[in-house]
Amino acid sequence: MLRPITPADTDVLVELTDETGFFKPMEVETLREVLDDYHAVNHIHNHRGFAWEEGGKVLGYVYYAPAAMTDRTWYLYWIAVSKDTQGQGLGGRLLEFVEQDIRDQGGRLLLIETSSTPHYEPTRRFYLKYGYTLAANIPDYYADGDGLVVFSKRVGRMVVV
Ligand SMILES: CC(C)(COP(=O)(O)OP(=O)(O)OC[C@H]1O[C@@H](n2cnc3c(N)ncnc32)[C@H](O)[C@@H]1OP(=O)(O)O)[C@@H](O)C(=O)NCCC(=O)NCCS
Repeated sequence: MLRPITPADTDVLVELTDETGFFKPMEVETLREVLDDYHAVNHIHNHRGFAWEEGGKVLGYVYYAPAAMTDRTWYLYWIAVSKDTQGQGLGGRLLEFVEQDIRDQGGRLLLIETSSTPHYEPTRRFYLKYGYTLAANIPDYYADGDGLVVFSKRVGRMVVV
């Protein structure tokens, strides 16, 4: 069952994210701040957070928001599936939900940032598998040898004036 996240989920989401083994401690702490800010104020600015729960256990989540100063571009800031559930299609279902939700709100373009390191190769394959295009690559962005990779997908109709 997909449902909006609540403040009571924060510890679970932080733990799930940490346990994937993909994120640096600093990034995991940032997630906690992002979730706190979301519940305090950012939900008013149409930030969106949803968790997939089965049998009372959260197995994955997404967090996304409109990009400021753009015409209906959105960012998927966080997506993670619990370590034991990965590779069974849940990430794809979460992505499809996000795309439909953004589309329903008139959104146009969805961007996702990730790392260029070999560690994130499965993550990059995941975005390519679900129809995302490699839109940008900035070497050494996060750190020397750790570049920024941006994936994009059109979720809304293109209107050329
Ligand atoms: C990336 C992630 C959200 C994908 O969710 P998922 O449920 O594992 O993905 P799905 O089962 O829907 O899709 C599987 C595809 O994703 C890729 N993939 C990425 N990570 C994978 C993993 N751990 N296990 C299996 N496949 C994985 C593969 O390309 C696979 O397709 P293939 O088997 O045909 O090659 C999830 O693996 C995850 O949480 N990873 C760690 C955190 C992370 O990288 N988050 C994104 C940060 S930008």
